[in-house]
Amino acid sequence: MRILVNERGAERLLSRHLWVFARDVVSGPEAPGLFPVYWGRRLLALALYNPQSALRVRAFRFRPAEDPEKALLENLQRAVSRRLGALGREPEGGFRLAHAEGDFLPGLVVDYYAGHAVVQATAYAWEALLPQVAEILKPYVKSVLARNDAKAREMEGLPLYVRPLWGEVPERVTVKEGRVRYLVDLKGGQKTGAFLDQRENRTLMESLRGERALDVFSYAGGFALHLALGFKEVVAVDSSGEALAWAQENARMNGLAIQTVEANAFDYLRALEKAGERFDLVVLDPPAFAKGKKDLERAYRAYKEVNLRAIRLLKEGGVLATASCSHYLTEPLFYGMLAEAAKDTHRVLRVLERRGQPFDHPVLLNHPETHYLKFALLEVL
Ligand SMILES: C[S@@+](CC[C@H](N)C(=O)[O-])C[C@H]1O[C@@H](n2cnc3c(N)ncnc32)[C@H](O)[C@@H]1O
Repeated sequence: MRILVNERGAERLLSRHLWVFARDVVSGPEAPGLFPVYWGRRLLALALYNPQSALRVRAFRFRPAEDPEKALLENLQRAVSRRLGALGREPEGGFRLAHAEGDFLPGLVVDYYAGHAVVQATAYAWEALLPQVAEILKPYVKSVLARNDAKAREMEGLPLYVRPLWGEVPERVTVKEGRVRYLVDLKGGQKTGAFLDQRENRTLMESLRGERALDVFSYAGGFALHLALGFKEVVAVDSSGEALAWAQENARMNGLAIQTVEANAFDYLRALEKAGERFDLVVLDPPAFAKGKKDLERAYRAYKEVNLRAIRLLKEGGVLATASCSHYLTEPLFYGMLAEAAKDTHRVLRVLERRGQPFDHPVLLNHPETHYLKFALLEVL
């Protein structure tokens, strides 16, 4: 059984992009699974395949292999091996062990939280392989949980569920990050429990000092906890009261004080501006406003609005730490949006640092969708 693609599909795979959409698939098996991809008689790749999905072919290898399943699982073993140095140095830390396409493991994410693994599979062919995935992870962790409740699974025709794959999964774990510790709700937290991609951007905050800091889209106090080490007053804002309750618990656990505000960020930023409030530092870490290409224009306006309002709240010489995790808002668009916000507010933004994803969220230049996180540290003059 094989998948046959047309010339456009072949061009994508030959350029080492990993995806071929339904319109470029000429024929394929009736059931999902792992299959070789051909253009005429030429073998191009081995791929995860789902005849029900618009994203039909996701390549994981560009060479032949006798046993495709073994070859795919070897990619997982290789991904885990790349993180072993970090795990050895920081066993109580949080790291991504498998970053989907970035590790040639399309549709599979594995996060490590202080000795416990959380797996999320969003491509059909992984479903039958979950016992083998847990088997590979066992030597490195005390438990493996399947957090298969991501909405993206519905588009693949997969059920939503959360269940242990191996070991005893605790209700919560404590993860060490820089000089703070934070709690992770493995079964109920957002995504797989936390946002590990901002780890190094959060610890960067520990080097900053000032009077007042504002952490907008804070979740469980991600940036706020690190900021509370060096700022006299820290306010964390999020629309999720549940996340903010965790933020308060995290602050108490670290002997730190933060204020939490449950609000819509757009409304709250407007209210602060109206009240004439000023800050030395503002963090903006919004959810992906653009979830598809069609949302981009609306999302661009939303990103610009929050950045514009944050800039207005900053004192002369204050710092804006701003992020976007939507790959549709490319790096040039992100910095262009910030430049527009700077012009409109008649303030100068000086770049202190341009940052992105840490090593455990690898980017493939051939597959631009793997580069999604932008993070800028800017001085506002
Ligand atoms: C990318 S996460 C932030 C992660 C966090 N900064 C961290 O480092 O852990 C985005 C957060 O924005 C919150 N959120 C989404 N829409 C919001 C809105 N309109 N106003 C305030 N918070 C919102 C979500 O509840 C979520 O906690």
